[in-house]
Amino acid sequence: MSNLIYILNGPNLNLLGQREPEIYGAETLADVEAACAEVAQGFGLGIELMQSNHEGRLVDWIQDARGAAAGIIINPGAFTHTSVAILDALNAYEGPVLEVHVSNVHRREPFRHKSYVSLRADGVIAGFGTEGYALAMRRMGSLLA
Ligand code: DQA
Repeated sequence: MSNLIYILNGPNLNLLGQREPEIYGAETLADVEAACAEVAQGFGLGIELMQSNHEGRLVDWIQDARGAAAGIIINPGAFTHTSVAILDALNAYEGPVLEVHVSNVHRREPFRHKSYVSLRADGVIAGFGTEGYALAMRRMGSLLA
């Protein structure tokens, strides 16, 4: 089995650090990548962090993960709350899936309280800021140990 973890990010997460910093904080996706790479290395894992604003691209990457990635960490952004296609793709993936949200979606608008991806995720982290990604990476390490 591959030792690669895919860290997939949906729409607008390329703007982390610039977008609504009072909600999403000051760290960028590059900072997230560095933090996750460090944790992954401690577990003998590697990471590939990807971001797209396009639903189909995310579905393609999830399909690519089949047989290629040992686990998926995903923050689907707004597609969390809308995308049956992303859920279906994750259901066809055999490894562990961890869902991350930078903000505490449960304290926000009611439309953010529902997550299609949570129907598949083995664990969910929300409201831990960008630190949530490294925490998910730690959990992925112990799940795969
Ligand atoms: C988010 C929460 C979503 O509701 C929102 O659409 C995002 C980011 C988060 O990380 O807190 O784009 O997934």
